[in-house]
Amino acid sequence: MTLSEKVGQTNQPANVDAVGDAETLRLGLIGSSLYASGPTAGNIKDRGLMLSTIEAVQRIAVEESRLGIPLLFARDVIHGHRTIFPIPLGLAAAWDEDLVERAARMAADEAAANGIAWTFAPMIDISEDPRWGRVAESFGEAPALASRLGAAAVRGFQESASSLASCAKHYVGYGLVRGGRDYDSVSVGENTLRNLHLRPFRAAVEAGCAAVMAAFVDVDGVPMHANRRLLREILKQEWGFDGVVVSDWRGIGELVEHGVAADLREAAAQAIRAGIDIDMVSGAYAAHLAELVESGEVDAELLDDAVRRILRMKLRRGVFEQPYPPRSTDRAPTSASRTLARLAATSSFVLLSNRDVLPLNPSTRSRVLLTGPFVDNGEALLGTWTLDGRGEDVVTPATAFTERLDNLTVDDGRLSDRTLKLGRQADVIISLLGEHPSRSGEASSISKLDLPVGQLDGVRQLAALGKPLIVVLFTGRPLDIGDLLEHAGAVLLAWHPGIEAGPALADAILGKVPPRGRLPMTFPRSVGHLPSSSHQRPTGRPLEARGDVPSGGYIDALAQPRLPFGFGLSYTTFRYGAIRLSANEMPLVGGSIRISVDVTNTGPRPGREVVQLYLRDLVADVTRPLRQLADWRALDLEAGSRGTATFVVTPDDLGYYDRTMTYRVDPGEAEAIVGANAAQGVTARFSLKEEAR
Ligand code: GLC
Repeated sequence: MTLSEKVGQTNQPANVDAVGDAETLRLGLIGSSLYASGPTAGNIKDRGLMLSTIEAVQRIAVEESRLGIPLLFARDVIHGHRTIFPIPLGLAAAWDEDLVERAARMAADEAAANGIAWTFAPMIDISEDPRWGRVAESFGEAPALASRLGAAAVRGFQESASSLASCAKHYVGYGLVRGGRDYDSVSVGENTLRNLHLRPFRAAVEAGCAAVMAAFVDVDGVPMHANRRLLREILKQEWGFDGVVVSDWRGIGELVEHGVAADLREAAAQAIRAGIDIDMVSGAYAAHLAELVESGEVDAELLDDAVRRILRMKLRRGVFEQPYPPRSTDRAPTSASRTLARLAATSSFVLLSNRDVLPLNPSTRSRVLLTGPFVDNGEALLGTWTLDGRGEDVVTPATAFTERLDNLTVDDGRLSDRTLKLGRQADVIISLLGEHPSRSGEASSISKLDLPVGQLDGVRQLAALGKPLIVVLFTGRPLDIGDLLEHAGAVLLAWHPGIEAGPALADAILGKVPPRGRLPMTFPRSVGHLPSSSHQRPTGRPLEARGDVPSGGYIDALAQPRLPFGFGLSYTTFRYGAIRLSANEMPLVGGSIRISVDVTNTGPRPGREVVQLYLRDLVADVTRPLRQLADWRALDLEAGSRGTATFVVTPDDLGYYDRTMTYRVDPGEAEAIVGANAAQGVTARFSLKEEAR
C-alpha cells in the first residue's frame, strides 16, 4: 500500500456518494463512510438513494481503485433499524440479556439488508445523571447490568446472519459530564474509571466488539481523542483490544476547540499517537497524516497499526468476500419483528405504583377515557436515535385500545375542559403523559427534571374527579415525578417503547402481560439530589441523621432517592425467605459460595420477580460501594407458588482496582444483600480466606 492508500483507510467521511466522491474513491482515499445521523441526517433525501449509493460507491472502490479494498458502511442502529424497539434504557429495564441479543440480531439483519455493515452501538456509558439526554441510549447506572447487556448486544449484532460489526461507545466516562451538560468536561480519577466506567467496555471487548468509539469529552483535562493513557495504554495494550478505535463525529478536529491542538495538523498527530485509528468526518488524517509520517513527526508504525486494525475488521466482517449489499428495498416490519418488538416493550415497562387499579378487566364494560398527548402520536413513541424508524409503523395506544375495549373514548388534546368533562363521564381514566423523545438523546440535556409543564397539575385535576386514574409515563430518562404517585391510582413507566407501543401497553394494562421491568437508573428525589445512584460509597459519616452523629445528606430534604435502582412492582406480591449460604467462607483461589433465597408469590396473580444480588467488600484498599449489583435472577411465579433464586459468588465478584491501579481480591469480610431493589434486601456475611501456604 502506498502512504496515501494507508491514510485512505483511516478516513471516514459522511454520506459518501458515487458522484461527488468518485475520484477520491478511485484513488483509494476513503476507507469507510457513515450514513449519517445527527447533523447531516437530512443529506439522505431518499432511502432509495442510500441503497443505490452504497452499491455504486462500493463498485467504484472495489472495481476501479488500484487495490480494490471495499469500504465499510456505518450507521447508528441503536435500538432497531426499521423495527424500532424500546430505547436502550427501556430495554435495560427488562434485565434480560437474551432479549437484548435477539433485538440486536433483528436490527442487524434489517440494517444489513440496507447495505449497512457497521453500527455505532451499543452505547454503554455508565449513566447516573438524568439531566444528560444520552442516558436514553444507555443501559443505565450499574456496571454489572451495562456490562452484561452490552456484551449481549455485541453478540447479537455480530453473530447475526449478517454479522453487523458493533462499536462500544463512548469510551470513557462520558456519563459524568459536568452538570449533566452534554459534551462538558469530566473530572474523574482512574480508579473510579476502572472500578465503574471501564467495566462495561472491558466486557464488550471480551465479547469481541469490532470497534470502540472515543467520547467527545476531556477527562481530567485530556480530551479522549488525545488520551494515550486510556486508549493506547489501557484499551489496546493492557486489555489487548485488537479492533478499531473510531473517533466520534469530528472528534479529532475538536482537539483544536478543546485547546490542546493549535491546528488540525497537530490534532491529527495527537490523535494517531493516542490510538485513534479512524477519523470520522474531521478530515484531519486525510489532510495531514501522510505528511506527518513523511516528515518523521509521526512514527510510520502507528499508521501501519491503524491500517492493520482496519483491514482486520474488514476481513472479519467478510466484506472482501461479499462487498455488495443485497438489492433489497426498505422492508416494513414483519409480524415476527413486531412480535419481538412487543415482547421487548412489555418487558421494559416498570410499574411504579398501583392502588388496586391495575390490571383493568379486559372484558370491562366500563367507560374508559384514554387521554393525553401520546394517545395517537406514533412518532413520539419511537424514542431518540431512530434514523430509519417511521411514525407510521407505530401501532398507537388509541388504535390498540380501540381494538380491545368497546366503551372507549379517546381524547388526544392537552388537558382541557373537554378532557375534564369526558373524565366526569368515564368510569376509568388512562392518562398518557411524559416527555417527547426530542428532549432526550444527544445534545438534549435539561436543567430541570420536572414533568413537562402542566402535566402534574393535570393529573391532580383528573384525580380530583374521583375515578380510577392510570398514568402511563413516557420518558427517555428518570424524571422528578414529584407527588405523581400520591395522586394517580397507578403509574406505569413505559420509556419510549417503539413500534408496538400500543399493543404492549394494552397487554400490560389489561393484564395479559403483567409489568416485569425494574429501574436501570435511580429516580432521584429532585434535580438537586444529583448525582444519585446505587453505587453510593460508605463515606465517614451517615447519609441520614443517626442519633448525635453528624450526618451528611440535606437539612431540607431526605437524601434517599424517590425510587431506588432496581425498583419495580408487579400485579402480585412476593415474600423473601431467609438467605442461605453454602458456606461462610471461601478460599481466595478457586473458591465459591452458593447463595440462595426462596421467594413466594403471595398474591392473586402470576408475576415475575427480579431477584437482585448486591455485594459489599467491607474493608478494601479503596472505598467500595455500600452495595453494588453483582447478579440477578428472574423468577416467574404462579400465584401462591415458591421459587428459589440461587447465585454462585466467586472471589472475582469482589475484585477491584486498588490505589496503585492493580486488580486485586482481598481476604476478609464481605456482605451479600439479596432483594427486590437497591434499597432493601436480606443480608448475610461471608469471608474470603487466604490459602494456608
Ligand atoms: C454522534 C454521536 C455518536 C454517533 C456519531 C455518528 O455525534 O456522539 O454516538 O455514533 O455521532 O452518528
